[in-house]
Amino acid sequence: MDKNNSSENQEQEEQVVNPWEVSAKGKIDYDKLIEKFGCQRLDQSIIDRVARLTGRPPHVFLRRAVFFAHRDFNEILDAYERGEKFYLYTGRGPSSEALHLGHLVPFMFTKYLQDAFKVPLVIQLTDDEKCMWKNLTVEESQRLARENAKDIIACGFDASKTFIFSDFDYVGGSFYKNMVKIAKCVTYNKVVGIFGFTGEDHIGKVSFPPVQAAPSFPSSFPHLFTGMDNLRCLIPCAIDQDPYFRMTRDVAPRLGYHKPALIESLFFPALQGETGKMSASDPNSAIYVTDSGKDIKNKINKYAFSGGQDSVENHRKYGANLEVDIPIKYLGFFLEDDAELEYIRTEYGAGRMLTGEVKKQLTEILMEMVERHRRARAAVTDEMVDAFMAVRPLPNMFR
Ligand code: TRP
Repeated sequence: MDKNNSSENQEQEEQVVNPWEVSAKGKIDYDKLIEKFGCQRLDQSIIDRVARLTGRPPHVFLRRAVFFAHRDFNEILDAYERGEKFYLYTGRGPSSEALHLGHLVPFMFTKYLQDAFKVPLVIQLTDDEKCMWKNLTVEESQRLARENAKDIIACGFDASKTFIFSDFDYVGGSFYKNMVKIAKCVTYNKVVGIFGFTGEDHIGKVSFPPVQAAPSFPSSFPHLFTGMDNLRCLIPCAIDQDPYFRMTRDVAPRLGYHKPALIESLFFPALQGETGKMSASDPNSAIYVTDSGKDIKNKINKYAFSGGQDSVENHRKYGANLEVDIPIKYLGFFLEDDAELEYIRTEYGAGRMLTGEVKKQLTEILMEMVERHRRARAAVTDEMVDAFMAVRPLPNMFR
């Protein structure tokens, strides 16, 4: 299964999904992706179980299948039910100053998981990764990591349960020992098979995967998890990160660790339509957390791909095609009221509601969300960033 991402195969395949590229001729075929990667679909019985175990309604991203695939999530829940603890691990490659809405999705969900399960969280900022892939200087990547940390903190994480680290600052000691142990278990042929590296790629890229793998093992964080080598790890991420963790899961038993469990999301679609991830190079393909209300309104009105008909008469007659409609997709992520979403879908789909009305509703929701984020981020001080990033024990992390 693993060999499917190799570069030769990429040319023949109409859909490419790996940590550096997400593209498809049409829509991403997520069923095919699940099959190819070998993960499992997140079914209703698991969602019900999460609700039961946490005593809270399932997050909207679970109800709407934004997080739609997993690996061994049921084992995490089994362990949790037995009274065992686990920790969360997620991350961000700091490649840009401002985050767009798609970047917030895994963090919003991780925050819910942290609150619902009351568990510690480690957040990796892969400034080294972006320095190597994006042609950023070491200093610029580090600066972006700190800037992005502010946006991440603004999502509301609990400082008494959260450790944020930059690779450039933190890699060393026990973390580095795990990297070396992981690296020794992975042949060159294997990484080429998983990631599609070629002979022209610099060796920094080839040597990076153990950096992203290491946080999956509790002993990489002695200030947090000393004496807890058996602690399980759950990784919320977008499904393009799966190759890293396929590799990690492959080596885990050989190092005497549990395989990390994963809970994986869809990609947040670009305004122009659902053909892949948003492109950082086109500012009009996404809504950024730094966009003004006016920007948001303009972008939605001008660029959000509509499934509505070309004239009001035809729209009233045929209704909107919800399958391709971006405002409907975005509402699926961010309009929390299930009944209201269903109402809009029905009315719009039947042509009784017009695209403009749906866009207006979306604009209001996003303006409020972005404004809330802007205020939260403005309240994040340098001292708070230092506090989250300090290598320190978290005595109340399981409470
Ligand atoms: N490689 C990821 C990115 O470019 C960052 C990352 C590091 C990550 N560790 C992770 C993402 C764990 C999800 C889970 O964004």
